[in-house]
Amino acid sequence: GRKWTEIGLVNENLKDQTVLIRGRIQTIRPVGKNIGFLVLREKGFTIQCVLTVANNLVSKQMVKFATSLSKESHVDIEGIVSVPDAPIKGATQQVEVQVRKIKGISKALPTLPINIEDAARSEADIEKALLAGEQLVRVNQDTRLNFRVLDVRTPANQAIFRIQCQVENVFRQYLLSEGFVGIHTPKLIAGSSEGGASVFRLDYKGRPACLAQSPQLHKQMAICGDFGRVFEIGPVFRAEDSFTHRHLCEFTGLDVEMEIKEHYSEVMDVVDSLFVAMFDSLNENCKKELEAIGKQYPFEPLKYLRKTLRLTFEEGVQMLKEAGIEVDPLGDLNTEVERRLGKLVLEKYGTEFYILHRYPLAVRPFYTMPAYDNPAYSNSFDVFIRGEEIISGAQRVHVPELLSTRAEGLGIDLKSIETYIDAFRYGAPPHGGFGVGLERVVMLFCALNNIRKTSLFPRDPQRITP
Ligand code: 4AD
Repeated sequence: GRKWTEIGLVNENLKDQTVLIRGRIQTIRPVGKNIGFLVLREKGFTIQCVLTVANNLVSKQMVKFATSLSKESHVDIEGIVSVPDAPIKGATQQVEVQVRKIKGISKALPTLPINIEDAARSEADIEKALLAGEQLVRVNQDTRLNFRVLDVRTPANQAIFRIQCQVENVFRQYLLSEGFVGIHTPKLIAGSSEGGASVFRLDYKGRPACLAQSPQLHKQMAICGDFGRVFEIGPVFRAEDSFTHRHLCEFTGLDVEMEIKEHYSEVMDVVDSLFVAMFDSLNENCKKELEAIGKQYPFEPLKYLRKTLRLTFEEGVQMLKEAGIEVDPLGDLNTEVERRLGKLVLEKYGTEFYILHRYPLAVRPFYTMPAYDNPAYSNSFDVFIRGEEIISGAQRVHVPELLSTRAEGLGIDLKSIETYIDAFRYGAPPHGGFGVGLERVVMLFCALNNIRKTSLFPRDPQRITP
């Protein structure tokens, strides 16, 4: 086949060379009948292509054909790379292609529900344009999501999903290097794993069943099965009722489960080094992507320490108290209080990433291990980025009698988790783990305001299409 060049790679080094590129038409600008400019886009990169009848480079018909195509259609262009004197506005590549041949490949509708250039503008840019009297349509979130295949073509959205891929990649690579085994657990299960309310119930050939709210039960059973340390990347289903900026009905869970030798801090050690490695890698390897996101949604880089701060729940409550915020010392923290605590932690310790551990037992799921010295507390933790939860984790109860008592006490139907509890009767080591919400990590690392931005095709209480 012929040699193709990606638009993002067409630069000064290719000056005077002939390149073959394929892209979508982002803008079309005819200048009279003899000249036309097309900006082509591929994977978020854009390049200006010039058609001119001068020196018989192309014919008049060719100019007419090219300038009558619809935006977002694909074309193949063969042309020569040139470097203009002035900087090129409205294109990422600072070179032009002098067109020799052009061929239409796909046709987009002449009017589109979303104009990609408008969709790519920052809020500040929109305000400025409106003040200047420019006619433009602010693309709202629902329209974006209804026409997601158009919306994801913006540079910021292209970058968001490349960042997401990198988060997953580092998660996998890091854990593999630490002796974890990647597993897959069933998503059709007999009982709920995280409590009744937010479970999708379904009919499994005449028997009641659920969509897994997490891999919790089966990742623990994998530990009973001698894998020692496991991880999973997979879908998680929650029948959330409330419509919030951070809850989806389906998200991607990054889960870890591991044997504990002496103390649940071994699990927090994994969180610590895994996430420092992840943030380092994003900052180091995704500079272009972070820049593209920042252009549309400006944000400050995440502040994190080389050794992740750990505070106990009691210390957190105390910090809140000193700031005049009273909370139940054995209750849960609501979203607003978590945010406030995040701010206090940032002021005092200079980090936006920290672990809060030893939560009150009463606010944790049945499988959570009570603290050995005081059963009002538990060997559990949550992890926060910019004051919002991205992880929850714990040591688990590995003693079957205690597990039954705890589940029963919380009104869980023992029958539906019988095989899970039985798994601990054949010898189970102390163990613990954690679950991370992939979309939340990306949202909060980039300080985005809505989890729908970091889910390619989000599922929320009101949306199951596209
Ligand atoms: O806090 P959660 O419910 O904990 C568990 O599922 C446990 N089994 C984890 C463990 O190993 N102990 O969920 C874990 C993470 C949350 O911290 C959050 O990041 C994300 O999953 N999450 C959601 N993300 C998007 N939409 C939702 N509705 C989410 N619910 C939880």
